[in-house]
Amino acid sequence: MSNKTLVILAHPNPGESQVNAAWRTRLEEAALPVTLRDIYQLYPDWTVDVAAEQALLESHERIFLQFPLYWYSVPPLLKKWLDDVLAYGWAYGPRGDRLARKEMGLIVSTGSPESAYQRNGRLGHTLAELLRPMEQTIRFVGARYVPVFTLQGANRVIPADQLSRSADDYVAHVGGLAAGASSATHHRCAAGSSPPRNDLSQGHDFTRVHLDA
Ligand SMILES: Cc1cc2nc3c(=O)[nH]c(=O)nc-3n(C[C@H](O)[C@H](O)[C@H](O)COP(=O)(O)O)c2cc1C
Repeated sequence: MSNKTLVILAHPNPGESQVNAAWRTRLEEAALPVTLRDIYQLYPDWTVDVAAEQALLESHERIFLQFPLYWYSVPPLLKKWLDDVLAYGWAYGPRGDRLARKEMGLIVSTGSPESAYQRNGRLGHTLAELLRPMEQTIRFVGARYVPVFTLQGANRVIPADQLSRSADDYVAHVGGLAAGASSATHHRCAAGSSPPRNDLSQGHDFTRVHLDA
């Protein structure tokens, strides 16, 4: 595989992480030709090197934005990264087509469990619905939206075997390897396409790993 995949990782507090830390460790162990860009580590003063970020985006074909969900949105440095890097005349506007036709997706951990992220659940919305502004941003710059990969329920300790399965699935997802590489269950359904009816009724409109929360 050529080095065409870029992961923009935005975790404000990696020392406290269980999910993103496990995903990252497994990705590094897999030694895939994937470029991992830890923006909180790179930019402690939040001054984003726009030219460097844009050059990396241009040289990769599959781009993932990876983050823990913060107030149903992205952590603040990732928001700033988006504001700075997806510039007029580069990502949109005149000649602003540098991300067009690339694949872009979200990789998200959440504290609340999957059962809460249902239309008839405690939060009243699916994760895919809550991530619509990010999905729209990706579509707006002309990239092809890859369904969300997630692990939910991190407010409690995730059993080691589930975390390990999720890490395997994460590596398969990021590496573009065949689905079903592990025993975890996937539901893939891009928002805007026509998912199987039972998927919609259960709010299964994103790629995820089941947790018994
Ligand atoms: C400031 C802040 C805001 C958060 N907002 C949400 C939220 O809106 N929804 C949610 O499910 N979890 C929320 N969480 C929990 C994190 O998403 C969760 O701890 C993280 O995804 C777990 O991943 P990690 O183990 O890699 O840190 C929030 C946590 C913090 C610190």
